[in-house]
Amino acid sequence: MVQFPAGAATPASIVDALDALAGHPPKARASFAEGRCVRGTYIPSDRAPEITRSQSFTKPSRVLARFSVSGGDPKAADTDNRGLRGFSFRLGGEDHRSHMLLQSAPVHFARTLDQMLAYLKVRMPGPSGKPNMKKVKAFSAANPETLHQANYIAALPLPGSFAGTTYWGVHAFPATSSKGETRFIKFKVAPVGGDVTLTGDQARAKSADFLYDDLKNRIAKGDVRLNVMALLDRPDDPVMDVTIRWPDEDARETVRLGTIVITGVEADEACDASIFSPATLAEGIAHPPDEIFAARRAAYVISLGKRR
Ligand code: HEM
Repeated sequence: MVQFPAGAATPASIVDALDALAGHPPKARASFAEGRCVRGTYIPSDRAPEITRSQSFTKPSRVLARFSVSGGDPKAADTDNRGLRGFSFRLGGEDHRSHMLLQSAPVHFARTLDQMLAYLKVRMPGPSGKPNMKKVKAFSAANPETLHQANYIAALPLPGSFAGTTYWGVHAFPATSSKGETRFIKFKVAPVGGDVTLTGDQARAKSADFLYDDLKNRIAKGDVRLNVMALLDRPDDPVMDVTIRWPDEDARETVRLGTIVITGVEADEACDASIFSPATLAEGIAHPPDEIFAARRAAYVISLGKRR
């Protein structure tokens, strides 16, 4: 269990800050509050054991998953392209369950927990109802890595479909193969049919919750398939810093671990009754070593307690 020094940011202070920034919406997740619960199946590829002996990823299983939109507002507009899309899933049998939480950007917005809390606090609305933009700019200038995520999203068109978005696990996960060899991998979930994006005009014509309608239609047609990919490490990759990508990351050797087929919409309660916990990983995939990952398990449990 990681100890957080007195006076420093903690999982609880981060959850409080996320909740305050969203205006304390009742019974909502502190982050990625808007979302839809779905079910499906996972089919492993023949090559998965080359990367991990985790039975979650090498055996077929049922999947419970949730597509989401970032932020603490459960009614966030799908047409706001400053936000991220999220994809969480649980797979594996009773005794070898894993949870994976991914987002539509390959980097996080803070390298340390202290930096994450400072990033959130500086964006807190003042008496005018808006954040002090001078302070936000000064913080960004002093902490340029906190802009990597926003810059990544700003360069992309608006996602046109939950089922047509690429999602990233962000952290470097130690993966042990069937031969017992361990290396770092990054998770990437890529839609089988490629990314679906919208032009500005197409986006303006969409309703605030068009992503859900699109998802239901695609599930009814049976065409929601997402490949679970492992990006392979090279010596000296920066595995402790979640604000930067590995050198040449898009050109990395990748192995398809398997494919998730989404087959139906679930009642939201199936996803809301407990958490998708980043710490739940069956043997064969271990916890990433960075400080941000270490804080996540506690933060999700605290958020669950608040929203119940
Ligand atoms: C670094 C990469 C991160 C990714 C990819 C990520 C992704 C996600 C996703 C996909 C969800 C939605 C979960 C669901 O569908 O139920 C979520 C929720 C949440 N995240 Fe993160 N997150 C990250 C970092 C963090 C960090 C560092 C913290 C806090 C220390 C945090 C706090 C939360 C909280 C409190 C929730 C709500 C949990 C709940 O009520 O169930 N996240 N995150």
